[in-house]
Amino acid sequence: MLKIDNLHASVEDKSILKGINLEVKPGEVHAIMGPNGSGKSTLASVIAGKEEYEVTKGNITFDGEDIEELAAEERAHKGIFLSFQYPIEIPGVSVTNFIKTAINESRKAKGLEDMPAKDMLKLIREKADLLEIDRKFLSRSLNEGFSGGEKKRNEIFQMAMLDPKLAILDETDSGLDIDALRIVANGVNKLKNKDNAVVVITHYQRLLDYIVPDFVHVLYNGRIVKSGGKELAHELEEKGYDWIKEEVNA
Ligand SMILES: Nc1ncnc2c1ncn2[C@@H]1O[C@H](COP(=O)(O)OP(=O)(O)OP(=O)(O)O)[C@@H](O)[C@H]1O
Ligand SMILES: [Mg+2]
Repeated sequence: MLKIDNLHASVEDKSILKGINLEVKPGEVHAIMGPNGSGKSTLASVIAGKEEYEVTKGNITFDGEDIEELAAEERAHKGIFLSFQYPIEIPGVSVTNFIKTAINESRKAKGLEDMPAKDMLKLIREKADLLEIDRKFLSRSLNEGFSGGEKKRNEIFQMAMLDPKLAILDETDSGLDIDALRIVANGVNKLKNKDNAVVVITHYQRLLDYIVPDFVHVLYNGRIVKSGGKELAHELEEKGYDWIKEEVNA
C-alpha cells in the first residue's frame, strides 16, 4: 500500500529525513518511536504532502502510484489520513460541519454526489457512538476550547468518518486520560480491517498495549535504525534510547 524508498526530505534547507525505507501493507499496524526531534512528525507530514517539506531524494508510492506530485488534499482523497500533533482551531465551524464538508469534498473528488443528509446523520451517530462521543460535542466549534483529550478524540472521530486506507496517528495518545486512551484505541481497533493500515507515532509503549503493532520502528536522526515486533517497544520502555544511539554510532 505505502512504499517509501530512500526518502530524503528537508525543511527550510535543513535536511531532516536522511534515507527512510518503509513498507506498509494492507492489514498492518506499524508503530514509529524515537527521540524528540528525530523526524517522526516530519515523516508523517511528508507522506501526507504538507507543502513546507521538500523531498530531495527517493520516492513514496501509494497503491503503486508515485504520489510525490500530488497535493495534500489529493492524497487525502486517495485515502491517506494524518492526525495532527497540534490540531488547529476553526472558530464558527462545528465538528459536524467540518466533517460533512470533508466527506463531501472527498466524494466530489471521486465524481460522487454529496452524501444524502439522512445517511450523513446516520453515519455521524454511528461513529460518535462507537467512540463514545457525546452528541453535544458534535455541535461545538472545531477545536475551540477543546481540552487536549477532546482534540484527540475528535481526530479519531474524523478518522472514523473518513474511513481512510492509511491512517497516520501522530501522538494521538499524548494528553489522554486512561479511559480516553482506551476508547480511542478501541475505536482504532474497531476501524481496523484487512484492507486498511495504521501507522502510530508514539513515545509510550502503553498505547501499544491497546493498539498492538505488527512492526515497531525506531527513527533516529532521520533514519529508521531499528525495526522489530511489539517486543521492541517494551525494550525501549525499559532501556531508553541510549543503547540504540550507541549501536548506531558504533
Ligand atoms: N517546519 C519546520 N521548520 C523548521 N524546522 C523544522 C520544521 N519541522 C520540523 N523541523 C525540525 O526537524 C526536526 C525533526 O522534527 P520532528 O517534528 O519531525 O521530530 P519528532 O520526531 O516528531 O519529534 P517529537 O517527538 O518531539 O514530536 C527538528 O529538529 C525540528 O525542529
Ligand atoms: Mg513529533
